Parts: sequence; C-alpha cells; structure tokens
Amino acid sequence: MLTDEKFVIKGLGGQKKLKGKISTPGAKNAVLKVLAASLLFSDEVTLTNVPEIEDVKRMLELLEDLGVVVEKKAAETYRLITKDILTYEISTTISKHLRSSIVLTGPLLGRLGRVTFPHPGGCVIGKRPIDFFIDSFKALGAEIKDTGAGYDIKVNKKLTGTEIFFKNISVTATENFMMAGVLASGTTVLKNVALEPEIISLGEFLNECGAKISGLGTSEITIIGGGLLSGKNKVYSTIPDRIAAGSFIILGALAGEKMEVTNCEPKHLESLLFLLKSAGIKLEVKKNSVIVYGAESKPQAVDIKTHEYPGFPTDLQAPMAVLLTQSSGQSFIFETIFEGRLNYLETFFRMEADVKIIDAHRAFISGPNKLIGKDMTSPDLRAGLAYILAGVIAKGESVVHNVYYVDRGYENIEKHLQNLGVDIKRV
Ligand code: EPU
Repeated sequence: MLTDEKFVIKGLGGQKKLKGKISTPGAKNAVLKVLAASLLFSDEVTLTNVPEIEDVKRMLELLEDLGVVVEKKAAETYRLITKDILTYEISTTISKHLRSSIVLTGPLLGRLGRVTFPHPGGCVIGKRPIDFFIDSFKALGAEIKDTGAGYDIKVNKKLTGTEIFFKNISVTATENFMMAGVLASGTTVLKNVALEPEIISLGEFLNECGAKISGLGTSEITIIGGGLLSGKNKVYSTIPDRIAAGSFIILGALAGEKMEVTNCEPKHLESLLFLLKSAGIKLEVKKNSVIVYGAESKPQAVDIKTHEYPGFPTDLQAPMAVLLTQSSGQSFIFETIFEGRLNYLETFFRMEADVKIIDAHRAFISGPNKLIGKDMTSPDLRAGLAYILAGVIAKGESVVHNVYYVDRGYENIEKHLQNLGVDIKRV
C-alpha cells in the first residue's frame, strides 16, 4: 500500500505548452459499486472499461476473500463468478484502506443475512461517519452489534422493505440501500437520495439484469425486492470518470496550449464547464470530448461552492483551486460536503499562492501568483492530483510524496501526463 514512491516534476514555470489528447478512464466511483453489486448475482457478471487502479484491486481482493472467483478476461475486462459466497466477514485489513468497502455491506447482508465489518478507512478528508448506514439497516429490520472494532449485523430471515429518509444526501448510502432493496422482501423507498451519474449507471445495469428500481436520477428511488439477479451474457461497461476528465480539463486550462480530453461525457461535467466558461476559459465541447485552449484563455476569479450532483463536485474542488491561484482577482471556496477538505491549501501557501483559510469549510484565493516548486505529501487522492497540477505549472522542481493515494484513482498518471509534454518521473 503506502510506499516511498514519489513523483518528481519539473515545472513549466507558467508556460502553456502541453499539447495532444488525454483519454478519460472508466469511473472509479462507478465501477467500485458495480463490483460490490456482483454479490447480488446468483451466477456471474462481466465488467469492461475497468480502470486498473489501486482501489479496484483492493475491491477485487475483498470480493475474492468473500468467495467470488475473479477472472481477468482481457485488459480492463473482468468476469466475476458469484455462485458461492462463503463468508459474511469483510476483511478488516483491506477495508481499512478502502472507504467504499462499506457498499459491500448491503448486498452481503441481503444475501447471507449477516455481515461483519470494521469502521471503513479511505482518504483523510475529515469525519466520515456511517450513521446513515447503521440507522437504515435498523429500519430494514436488522439487529446491530457494535463490537468495538466494528459491527456485526444480522437479520432474522430477510431484510424487510420500508421507507428510508436520509438526513443528508449520501452517494454510498444511496447505492448501498438500493442494492440492499433488491434482495429485501417487499418495497423499499429511499428518500432524499443522491443523483450522481454513477448511481444511475448502477441502477440501470441492475434493472437490465432483472432488478425493479425506479426513480433513478430523482430524489426518491423505489425498489421492489425480488431475489438474486442473473448476469449471464450481461456486460457492464464502466461510464467515463467525470472527475478524472474534469481534472484533465483544468490541467488544459492551466498549462495547455491546446489539449483535448477524449472519451468523456460532457453532460456529466456541466457545473465545471459552466464555471470554467464564466472564468474565461476557452473550451470547445463536443459529444464525447472537450478541447481546451489554454493559451488563448485568461482566467478570472470565480467563486465555487461544492454541492451534490449536479452541483460542483467536492472531488474537483482541489484541482479547481490550482486554477484559482492563476486567476485574476479574489475567489472564494466554500466546501460544503466534507470538513477538513481544505487542509491541502496550506501547501499552496508554501508554494507562494495567496491563500487565506477562514475555517474548515471556507477559504479565499487571490491571484494570479507564480507558484514555486516544493516538496509535498498527498493527504488524499484528489488533493494529490491537485499537487501534481500545481507542480506542473510551478517554477522549479516539485516532489509529490504518498503516490499511493494518487494511484488509488489514477492509473499510470505519469505516462498520460508525459504524453502531453509534462516532465514527470516516478522515483
Ligand atoms: N455522511 C454522514 N453519515 C453517513 C454517510 C455520510 O454524515 O453515514 C456525510 C459525510 O460525512 C459527508 C456527506 O454525508 O459530509 C456526503 O458524503 P457521501 O456519503 O456522499 O460520501 P461518500 O459516499 O462517502 C462518495 C465518493 C467520494 C465523494 C463523495 C461526494 C465513493 C466511493 N466516494 O463518498 O469520492 O467525494 O461521494 O461526492 O463513491 C473520491 O473519489 O476521491 C471520493 C472521496
């Protein structure tokens, strides 16, 4: 997991000369949930366009540990045979490193009537409670035991469909209970759910395989429980990663002469594209790609407020902050989803950006200011990528430590960046 590998980047010192195309990988936050959903299948399921990233490897290990047979059929294509699920114990060692392991709990409890798991880990982005999960399992008739190290959840026969209102909008809680609802008896109604494209993609695929889920993309999802699904001859094709695509578009605005981000879904990026246009970035939006004319753009300050989809994604907040350091005027960042997701800004301050952190949720950035290359340590995946972007535009050399965090979500990021003309090495 954590190694002493690092990225060494020779910065462009403000020149805009990256050129070429960069392709969008399959979405991490879509594929992880479909992998978890394999537990809902009595036979098998095949997935394509699977990004070869660390989080996917960890999820496959967790599934194998539960009894799923994983076959790699081709590059980015996996067949999962799910006939025999042997244990209800989710591996503590692996799930400690993977927050999204929490989405195994719904399918596993539905399938085996019991699940044990530790408090999940993942990125260091503030408090990440799981109270919505615990409360919702109770509502579905489960009995919960807090073992200190984690939870032991049991259900008498089957989960029983009911109405669940989520106090706040949660992506993984929506996904987990949509999957639990598929194996519950009766009807489960989820209210105040998330609208992210990854959730719609998961729900639509489950419906293709026999589930009865309606209301996808609205704030209320209804699931008529049935039983296990069949995935024979069904293939899930992972949707493009909107956060990766968005980060590459921001890179184009920062350091590209002309750069094209291909294989993306611009419809999933409306809030970012709107904001970039308001900031004066010249873009050409095509059906499945976005061309950024960095050299012809003079970024202006804009305010950002993170919000659930279709609002501005919290996962693009840090990459966007790099652009704000290069924009004329004062920008305001309001992070509404996670506490502690602005700490990375202290590093920008060390790079000589004009940053004022007001509290755990709010900060001002004034610009434009030339950044100076520094040694930095990724606190999480998205801030890690933002550090790479900052290193690319800075003057001098930057070193980004904790590369594992970046590898969790981006496969071989350095190769893709090298192709555009970035001087970056993994050491
Ligand atoms: N929350 C609770 N209680 C819960 C669950 C969530 O209070 O039981 C709170 C969280 O603390 C947060 C808010 O609800 O304040 C929303 O969190 P959410 O549950 O939506 O986040 P998540 O499902 O844990 C997913 C993505 C994150 C992304 C967020 C927000 C996955 C695996 N993770 O997390 O992605 O930032 O939604 O869009 O889908 C990333 O990819 O780097 C990443 C962190």
